[in-house]
Amino acid sequence: MGKCYPTVSEEYQKTVEKCKRKLRGLIAEKNCAPLMLRLAWHSAGTFDVKTRTGGPFGTMKTPEELSHKANTGLDIAVRLLEPIKAQFPTISYADFYQLAGVVAVEVTGGPEVPFHPGREDKPKPPPEGRLPDATKGSDHLRDVFYTMGLCDQDIVALSGGHTLGRCHKERSGFEGPWTTNPLIFDNSYFKELLSGEKEGLIQLPSDKALLTDPVFRPLVEKYAAVEDAFFADYAEAHLKLSELG
Ligand code: HEM
Repeated sequence: MGKCYPTVSEEYQKTVEKCKRKLRGLIAEKNCAPLMLRLAWHSAGTFDVKTRTGGPFGTMKTPEELSHKANTGLDIAVRLLEPIKAQFPTISYADFYQLAGVVAVEVTGGPEVPFHPGREDKPKPPPEGRLPDATKGSDHLRDVFYTMGLCDQDIVALSGGHTLGRCHKERSGFEGPWTTNPLIFDNSYFKELLSGEKEGLIQLPSDKALLTDPVFRPLVEKYAAVEDAFFADYAEAHLKLSELG
C-alpha cells in the first residue's frame, strides 16, 4: 500500500534541494555528521504511536526538550544548524532536522534515505523519558521502539547508526567510538560488535543486547556479512523513523 504524502509546492521542493546542498557543506566543514544523525533520531524517537504525541515535529530547538538528559550535547547541533535555517525561513524545523539526518548518512557513504517534505512544526515538546537507556537490554529496547511503532528489524538496523560518531564522557557518561572510522557510514559497527570488546572502542550494554537476543543476533550477523543487506534495511528503517507521526 502506498503511503500518502502531504503535497508541497514545487517552490518548497526546490528550496529543500537548495537547503540539502547547504547541509552537505556544513557537515563537510564541521565533520558533524554523527551529531546531526543523533539530532534527527532523538527528534523522531520520542513518537508514541498510541497517543500520537512526540515525534519529528521540530520541537528539539526548545530549551525544554534540549534540557532532557538524553539530549545532552544536541544544543550544539541546533546551534550549528541555525545559520542555514536562517537562509530557509520557509522550511519547517521538522523537515529541516530530518533532512540533516538524511544528509549525514548520505555524505558519510551510507545509503540514500528517501526524503519526503511536508512535516509541520508543533509547539509542544514530548515528555522526557521516551528515548532508550543505554544501560538496559533487549526488553527495554523493544518497549521503546514498539512505542514508536517500529519493529525488531528496525531496532537492529537503526542501531547500526552507531557506525557514526562516539560517546562523550561529559554528555552521556560513556566514552569512545564504536568503530575505528567514526566518520564513515558502513557496516563496521556490526563487525566490531561480533568481534568482541577492543581497547579504545565502546560497546554499550544496549549494543551488546543485540548479541544475546535470539531475534536480534541473526540480523547482526547478516549485516556484518553483507553490507548491502544492512544498507537496504537501514534505509527502510530510517525512512520510517523520519516519518513517524
Ligand atoms: C538503540 C538504542 C540506542 C541507545 C541506547 C543509544 C545511546 C547512545 C549514547 C549513550 C550515545 C552517546 C552520546 C554522547 O555521549 O555523545 C549515542 C550516540 C550516538 N547515537 Fe545512539 N543510541 C541508540 C540508538 C541510536 C539510533 C537508532 C541512532 C541513529 C539511527 C543513533 C545514532 C547515534 C549517533 C550517530 C551517535 C554519535 C553522536 C556523536 O558522535 O556526537 N543511536 N547513542
